Amino acid sequence: MTTTAVLFAVPYAGIVAQSIPSCLADSFYGIFGQQAVFKPTNAVCVTRFVQGIDSPVIVPLPAGDEQLVWIQESAVDNALRTTAYDAQVKDFFQWLHTDDTVVPPAADYQTVLFTPEPLPALSLLYHNPTLRSAVVSVPDAGAAHALSTFLPRYWKASPIPPTPVAYLPVPEHAVDHVRKLLASLHFNPVVASIVNGISMDRMRKDIRYLTNEDGTSGIESRNSFANGSRVAAAWLKAQFEDTGASCELKPFLVGFAPNVVCKYTGTLDTESTVLISGHYDSRGSFGSSRAPGGNDDGSGTISLLAIAHRIKELGLKFHTNVELVAFAGEEQGLLGSKAYARELRARDANVTLMIQADMLAYHAPNEPPQLGLPEYIGTPEVTELVSKVAAIYSPELTVGYTAACCSDHQSFHQQGYPATQVFERAGPIADPMYHNSGDVSDRPGYDFNQVRYVSRVQFATLLHTAGFELPEADD
Ligand SMILES: *[C@@H]1O[C@H](CO)[C@@H](O)[C@H](O)[C@H]1NC(C)=O
Ligand SMILES: *[C@@H]1O[C@H](CO)[C@@H](O)[C@H](O)[C@H]1NC(C)=O
Ligand SMILES: [Zn+2]
Repeated sequence: MTTTAVLFAVPYAGIVAQSIPSCLADSFYGIFGQQAVFKPTNAVCVTRFVQGIDSPVIVPLPAGDEQLVWIQESAVDNALRTTAYDAQVKDFFQWLHTDDTVVPPAADYQTVLFTPEPLPALSLLYHNPTLRSAVVSVPDAGAAHALSTFLPRYWKASPIPPTPVAYLPVPEHAVDHVRKLLASLHFNPVVASIVNGISMDRMRKDIRYLTNEDGTSGIESRNSFANGSRVAAAWLKAQFEDTGASCELKPFLVGFAPNVVCKYTGTLDTESTVLISGHYDSRGSFGSSRAPGGNDDGSGTISLLAIAHRIKELGLKFHTNVELVAFAGEEQGLLGSKAYARELRARDANVTLMIQADMLAYHAPNEPPQLGLPEYIGTPEVTELVSKVAAIYSPELTVGYTAACCSDHQSFHQQGYPATQVFERAGPIADPMYHNSGDVSDRPGYDFNQVRYVSRVQFATLLHTAGFELPEADD
């Protein structure tokens, strides 16, 4: 009998606790959901490693070179798991079990630019209803992207790369700057006056353009495949450039809208970069071409814009380089940020700290404004810094942890950069309009104050980390 390749997935937390044995280091494929994925070539190594790890997942793989796709449900509040949703998940896995390609009814896929095609020929290799994850194989990468439009509402697909990726834990020295900040952080009245000036009117105006609630942009959808995402990208570039940044639209995959990468060059140190980000692409409901993404992630995007407007208003300069980045392809598996983080690593860029803002606006009507920090994926020191900054500059926020993971900061963390995420809730996702065509800004629970408070935290962390100067200050 020939040896069958296997996919081997273990909880990422287990990896962090144990550090991976060198015999596995060259067979690492990335983090998917909360699992670190390997295709080991050394069976002895697997046997030894499995003993120290809770609940490893072992998936026998087909012999060919099909594209593998990890699919995973996001951490959502039980209140969002309705009977209709459960039925959707059940239907989906029934399709996956059928041998023939099927064309689901129009009501059962997200309408994006391309004409709906039959579900690609695929096979389900693994499905764990408890971990709410699955692995499928499809013929090629294009089919993986098409598959993403058929996923049940709270599920996301991430293509597993065809070849191993470097396993790059964040090196100790990369966190030195953040550690120093942690030891010396105190209230700075100048920082407070800068971040307190973030304009909520501006945020209201910007989100209404991005969602087309004001009827001026004509953007029906910012799905990475939809035309509206290109309109949004061009508009974002112009907005950021108007604040003095140099921007580039950076394509990363054919068919996808580009990343919008904007830079302010440092005045003292042009070898280090502080990066803050959100994703401007969005996702809508089955059977609808509308994907306004007012919260996911229009809210993170307007936080970046609000910070940029404030930079312009005050004529702020930073000591190190600063980048404001709006990613695309997040909804198809963090594809835009993966490409950009890989590029930065290849260029030997020194990212001091990265903070991704993904979903900042919603909290349940009976809940206080909150800030959720990542329980699993991220650099603990960076998360701690953000938490301290929040206590100092946004005491209105109740700060806690969330299992809602896996946004673009993960791509940076995986390239060995110190990174974390800011999220709207100290708990799982509770927004009833999550991945829904009704995700506009004018609705109950969408709290601009909360966006402003979290934006202050993102901005104050940036100011403390990069260092800054105002034109009037000569001391
Ligand atoms: C999208 O853009 C393409 C190319 O610019 C155009 O041909 C097509 O009509 C547009 N589709 C929609 C729905 O606007
Ligand atoms: C990163 O820092 C190292 C050491 O200080 C420096 O040699 C290198 O040029 C920096 N990288 C960039 C892209 O500036
Ligand atoms: Zn998102």
